[in-house]
Amino acid sequence: MLNIMQFRTGDNLSYLLYGKKEAMAIDGVAAQAILDFIDEEGLILSWIANTHGHFDHTGGNNALLKKAKAKLLTVYELMQKGEFELEGDKIQIFHTPGHTEDSICFYTGKYLVSGDTLFNGTVGNCFTGDLKAFYESIKKLMALPEDTVVYAGHDYVYDSWNFAKYLEPDNNSFDLYVKQRYSEEHVFSTIKDEYSMNPYFRFNDEKIIAIMDSKGLATDTEWHRWESLMSIT
Ligand SMILES: [Fe+2]
Repeated sequence: MLNIMQFRTGDNLSYLLYGKKEAMAIDGVAAQAILDFIDEEGLILSWIANTHGHFDHTGGNNALLKKAKAKLLTVYELMQKGEFELEGDKIQIFHTPGHTEDSICFYTGKYLVSGDTLFNGTVGNCFTGDLKAFYESIKKLMALPEDTVVYAGHDYVYDSWNFAKYLEPDNNSFDLYVKQRYSEEHVFSTIKDEYSMNPYFRFNDEKIIAIMDSKGLATDTEWHRWESLMSIT
């Protein structure tokens, strides 16, 4: 069973997936903190990977490569492999285009490192403009077990909370999540949390459909509901 550690730099979140010895840094912008942790725990940093090519995620790669004998795995290598083994434990790689064409998510069976595709309480900007591909990507993540722990690329919890409350003032799920679970020290949610508080996981929910209907937006098919929801700013 792999472990995960989160490191924070501003709102940027870096990760280390590790077994008993070997470790993989994902979006290791917090390079020094990661190297310190590796030292303290007696781990070996074997692999460096990223969720996509944006600099605020890849910016730590060189610093890590300089200090550790790790190998950089490109997003494209991982995408092609579809899975990766770390100390005998499988990590599935999902290609999740939308935020960028090269976006991938890492799934260990328990943890999801979701980059800028899925945040705790919202989804990323669809910079590719391909809403259909983004819809398919989000649906892939929606199909994961509800106890999957979501580790996102940034802490946008407060902004997401504001938007969710603006859209759906009566839904208290987000308030409860922030009160009971949110901490700057350790930012995570579960897929189950996302179904209760993230509007972009709830386009099939009666209440969200009613809100979109009241705004005169199309809600007849699931695809139209997604498209309508993404048009609300
Ligand atoms: Fe990004």
